[in-house]
Amino acid sequence: MTTITEKAYAKLNLSLDILSRRDDGYHEMRMVMQSISLADEVTITRREAGVSVSTNLKYLPCDDRNIAGRAARIFFSRTGIAGGADIVIKKRVPVCSGMAGGSSDAAAVLRGLCRLYGAPLSGDELRDMGRELGSDVPFCVEGGTVLATGRGDVLEELTPLPDCTLTICKPFFSISTPELFSRIRCERIRCRPDTDGLLAALENGDLKNIARRMYNVFEDVLPRNASDIGVIKQTLMEHDALGAVMTGTGSAVFGLFADPEYAMAARADLRETFDDCFLAFPVKKRPIDV
Ligand code: C5P
Repeated sequence: MTTITEKAYAKLNLSLDILSRRDDGYHEMRMVMQSISLADEVTITRREAGVSVSTNLKYLPCDDRNIAGRAARIFFSRTGIAGGADIVIKKRVPVCSGMAGGSSDAAAVLRGLCRLYGAPLSGDELRDMGRELGSDVPFCVEGGTVLATGRGDVLEELTPLPDCTLTICKPFFSISTPELFSRIRCERIRCRPDTDGLLAALENGDLKNIARRMYNVFEDVLPRNASDIGVIKQTLMEHDALGAVMTGTGSAVFGLFADPEYAMAARADLRETFDDCFLAFPVKKRPIDV
């Protein structure tokens, strides 16, 4: 095998809570993350040495700033495997949206190189490599429905989210992740998600109570120019979403629907104003097979 294609699934935060600021500059998180069917496509071709990256989005850097290329370099240096890779990424997940698009591309590169080079690495070994690349990369290695703590890299598998339809909309602006974290004062967070209630609802497969408990503490510290977040949430709720929330550090917002017809109607409505509107479904954990 010389070429393989991996799907790099996006993630949504069903909840996001920040417990404290750590001495290393990161924050201690407690959040429920969910893989979804919206995905980039990452094609990797073997070559003798070196790593190249190209994407269908001209403005994305393909040099060492690209996390997918960095993932490949870490893979070769950690495993000692002599080889290289040409990586071609078809982006579908909007960039800077809080859906871990870049992190998921990096995880797809790690998984793909394992398969291409027949490296018998476990999920834990790949997650360790992923941790060096970014806080969301370990989750993206196998995905599913997960409680993430620590930097977001300590993972506990949960009962999968029941079948539902997700309508996702990214406003025209993006939000800088470090800047949004810098706006958080942990002791001043007034409203937090009921994470324990969310975990219980997931265990019971109770979609209404899952959706009702979706909450993201970043929504309380949004910059002034982010009013479209509220507009999108309101539109989703007017179309009878069971719940609507911003994912990660935004700026994408999603609504959770039991009825796909309502989800489609919400997307059609949002499309009149916003370009980046998607329908998606939950995706279960995909274990690494070694
Ligand atoms: O880990 P990652 O490179 O994705 O993080 C980007 C930035 O987000 C960090 O430099 C930090 O400012 C912030 N961050 C944080 N606490 C986390 C994760 C990210 O403060 N748990």
